[in-house]
Amino acid sequence: MLKHKDLIENIKDPFILFKKWYDLACKTEINDPNAMTLSTLSNNQPSSRVVLLKSYDEIGLVFYTNSNSKKGKSIKENNNVALNFHWKTQNRQIRIEGIANIVSKEVADSYFKTRPRNSQIGAWSSSQSDDLSSRDELVKNIKDFEMKYKDKDIPRPSHWNGYLVMPNLIEFWQEMPFRFHDRVLYLKSDNSWKIKKLYP
Ligand SMILES: Cc1cc2nc3c(=O)[nH]c(=O)nc-3n(C[C@H](O)[C@H](O)[C@H](O)COP(=O)(O)O)c2cc1C
Repeated sequence: MLKHKDLIENIKDPFILFKKWYDLACKTEINDPNAMTLSTLSNNQPSSRVVLLKSYDEIGLVFYTNSNSKKGKSIKENNNVALNFHWKTQNRQIRIEGIANIVSKEVADSYFKTRPRNSQIGAWSSSQSDDLSSRDELVKNIKDFEMKYKDKDIPRPSHWNGYLVMPNLIEFWQEMPFRFHDRVLYLKSDNSWKIKKLYP
């Protein structure tokens, strides 16, 4: 009933397994294979939203956002976060728990430079998560910043930052027939990963 070949590969390093799953999702998902749900905790209240994975290595996963946003303030208060990828084409999810820290100015600057000009203007024009009185207010902000930076390079706003999530827990979840799903949990301790299987 459960085909062995469908079980999660036995790999010591979770980032090698992550890369295999992510690369496959990039080929098969209709859009946004790099979309991940980011959960934060503030005043004992969890909050989730989707952000885009922009880079990763064996240290962690990086996304970009406005540090004055709801999530930015929440991470400042408590940098324990969770990430979740759901790849529908593969019937897979990856759950991650870890610590988020702001990446260096140099890393954020160089990524900001690669963004389309309109996105750079957007980073200045949107006071993310603040009240907006009308759409016109946003359009006016965009026009003002377009004027301000006309024929000039657009610098990265200091409130627009990258966050590196360093995982201490990574769970790989593979759907299996009759809900006998395969779950493999990697837990970091003393700088190495311990591996466990979990009941579905
Ligand atoms: C597919 C997708 C990708 C998104 N990527 C980002 C992102 O990389 N950074 C970001 O700040 N918001 C992104 N958003 C918007 C966030 O989900 C969210 O609406 C916004 O960041 C405000 O969240 P907050 O008020 O909790 O801070 C994305 C939304 C979707 C649906």
